Amino acid sequence: MTPAPLPSRIGYGEDAHRLAQGRALVLGGVPIPHAERGAVAHSDGDAVLHAVADALLSGLALGDIGQYYPDTAAENAGLDSREILAHALALVREWKYAPANVALVVTLDRPKLGPLRADIARNVAALLGLNETEVGVSFKTSEGLAPDHVQVRVTVLLARVEG
Ligand code: C5P
Ligand code: MG
Repeated sequence: MTPAPLPSRIGYGEDAHRLAQGRALVLGGVPIPHAERGAVAHSDGDAVLHAVADALLSGLALGDIGQYYPDTAAENAGLDSREILAHALALVREWKYAPANVALVVTLDRPKLGPLRADIARNVAALLGLNETEVGVSFKTSEGLAPDHVQVRVTVLLARVEG
């Protein structure tokens, strides 16, 4: 079914991964130094990029990344999340939309991510063809309610590209 040519559309995505020792923690393509634990995942476990990709797809009712990259498929083991995001972005562009701005929230108890806010914003912006001021990055602790998880929530505004 063809998505209606609205001037803009909202997308929303979420992702969560369990944290375990001996794994790297990468968020928005930025390796998190001093993370005691990293994401357990079939792919590289970058919950920010997964949630952004899902947000892009949801804005056009194109399903979710699991439909394109099943976590049961052997060829997706260790998959670079930038590839997943690039695929979602290509679909958005095919439908003549482009991301206009992004708001993302990472919930993680430790470590503190504040010092990496600009790096994450810049990196996500670059992957989406945006300026870093168009990517809002917020951090929250779970107040100890979910100390073994990293959770990401993302909204994106998709604007129709004329022509
Ligand atoms: O979740 P909470 O309100 O307790 O977060 C307090 C502050 O800690 C916020 O300013 C947030 O940006 C920061 N924070 C952080 N890294 C985290 C979690 C929260 O820098 N992993
Ligand atoms: Mg994921």
